[in-house]
Amino acid sequence: MSSLCFVSQQPPRRKSQTTVPPDWRAEVERVLISGAQLAARVKQLAEKIEIDFGGREMVVISVLNGTVLFIADLIRHLNLPLRLDFVGVSSYGAGTKSGDLIFTKELRLDVAARDVLLVDDILDTGKTMTRVLAKIKALKPRRIKTCVLLDKPERRTERIQADYVGFQIPDQFVVGYGLDFAECYRNLPFVGVLHPHVYQAEISPKKVRALNG
Ligand code: PRP
Repeated sequence: MSSLCFVSQQPPRRKSQTTVPPDWRAEVERVLISGAQLAARVKQLAEKIEIDFGGREMVVISVLNGTVLFIADLIRHLNLPLRLDFVGVSSYGAGTKSGDLIFTKELRLDVAARDVLLVDDILDTGKTMTRVLAKIKALKPRRIKTCVLLDKPERRTERIQADYVGFQIPDQFVVGYGLDFAECYRNLPFVGVLHPHVYQAEISPKKVRALNG
């Protein structure tokens, strides 16, 4: 395992919810949203969604992979009948024009005439949500609402907004609670801002830690 995916072997210390735990300080600059803030907001979102969907059966569609923690927490607060499905989306490889997306995992459930909630971890440029939304709308759901944990409006290039937003955040490189850098950090129980030297510099993780004490 890359040491950028460093996982503490020690029990977490509970000092301050906004203080980066010691084992992550070399790689995470600051906690942007604490675990407690995430938990409270996810519960609020679920309550709002539950009211809006009026107890009707719904299909929840989660966009892989960044939603993994968010969706698990969100649906456990949704006290209504639901079915869960996933879609996978990925950018084309090098050499193709930016914004081209391919589906790496197709929907399995039938959403025609059903109430659908489309969930993603972050709305950034909006390309992913726009593309996925168009694909699901073509399947003729009764209605579809969108929900994102994080919204970075400064980065938007598409004309799209989510119906439910957990937190609006500034244009900073965030990781944790499902969000990754090079597939690492998804397991952090908070959303944190990554130290720029982690993604800008080609230096060893050992040196990163040495630089940050
Ligand atoms: C991230 C995120 C959203 C998408 C948002 O996915 O999970 O799906 O980018 O960006 P956009 O608004 O600019 O389209 P990523 O491709 O990093 O995959 P992941 O979910 O597996 O991390």
